[in-house]
Amino acid sequence: MRMELITNVSEYEKLAREKLPKMVYDYYASGAEDQWTLRENREAFSRILFRPRVLIDVSHIDIATKILGFDISMPIMIAPSAMHKMAHPEGELATARAAASAGTIMTLSTLATSSVEEVNSVGPGIRFFQLYVFKDRNLVRQLVKRAETAGFKAIVLTVDTPILGRREADIKNRFILPPHLVLKNFEALDLGTMDKTDDSGLASYVAGQFDRSLCWEDVKWLQTITPLPILVKGVMTAEDTRLAIENGAAGIIVSNHGARQLDYVPATISCLEEVVTEAKGRLPVFLDGGVRRGTDVFKALALGAAGVFIGRPVLYSLAVDGEAGVRKMLQMLRDELELAMALGGCASLRDITRAHVVTDGDRIRRARL
Ligand code: FNR
Ligand code: LAC
Repeated sequence: MRMELITNVSEYEKLAREKLPKMVYDYYASGAEDQWTLRENREAFSRILFRPRVLIDVSHIDIATKILGFDISMPIMIAPSAMHKMAHPEGELATARAAASAGTIMTLSTLATSSVEEVNSVGPGIRFFQLYVFKDRNLVRQLVKRAETAGFKAIVLTVDTPILGRREADIKNRFILPPHLVLKNFEALDLGTMDKTDDSGLASYVAGQFDRSLCWEDVKWLQTITPLPILVKGVMTAEDTRLAIENGAAGIIVSNHGARQLDYVPATISCLEEVVTEAKGRLPVFLDGGVRRGTDVFKALALGAAGVFIGRPVLYSLAVDGEAGVRKMLQMLRDELELAMALGGCASLRDITRAHVVTDGDRIRRARL
């Protein structure tokens, strides 16, 4: 297929696969172990159906929204993902430009191949910084300060990765960051490269550097070192929702890390309502994992998400066509969301309700009555 003929977000994957070195494509695409959750993240969306409403004035569709007080053009944001320069020479800088021109938020990974300062230099844009807590807390303190100084507006604390999940393709490929690239945030600290091992080089890096003792107390600690709001990324249960609220989180991202960590966890869209119900509106709840269609976004919003984050399609569209690719990918999602809303009878995000969707759970409850 030619690039000009791409008509949906998922089609970027095939072209990216043709273009990227096998080691890189496999790293981006992989889920953990049997990849059951990887499939389920998509399949669970396909089991949720709509209850569309008709004869509603949809001549103006408004999808602009506010996230943590920031105005953005749509409830679709960019999830943090590591090492964008493996996809395209402009890497995270291209992604940041695309996000800014789409009027939405980009989350920069701790393990980016561009530094927080470099990303800031692309110009205006609302950006969040994703934090992995390293064993060296001084380093964490410095990194968070640098992100603040570079204008990042929130910390996205990833809490599902004390150790890297087992991605078997990366083990087979002996995955490492290609030697011409560096984890730019750590260049000056001599932690910017990965050693080749007879495992995934990234898994070894993570095992060496990440703090596995990280716990809820550290969410409080983080608030003592930064005034930025903290989004906790990787919550899947009501219990952890309660703890996130008790420990001062400003928001929750329901995430299973794109099915790359613990396999056989449910799809994120299947956990969303449990988290939303527990949150009781005390903080915004977001979702990532398997969002590939405007209809997926609509479903997540109907089940209570304040917005969604996109992972792999960013990397694939970046690989295929750089900044223009990411821009087009975001535009397609935007257009599809607007279309789904028009056809579902919702002129604005506020009009999207729980009654617009039917889930497996609803069907089971109804059958029992
Ligand atoms: C990720 N993700 C991730 N998350 C994070 O907090 N820090 C990171 O550095 C990365 N890196 C990363 C690399 C790659 C290649 C992927 C695919 C994912 C997880 C990411 O933020 C998000 O949770 C998922 O990608 C969402 O699922 P989808 O949209 O990829 O299905
Ligand atoms: C990954 C890490 C880096 O999923 O978050 O590969």
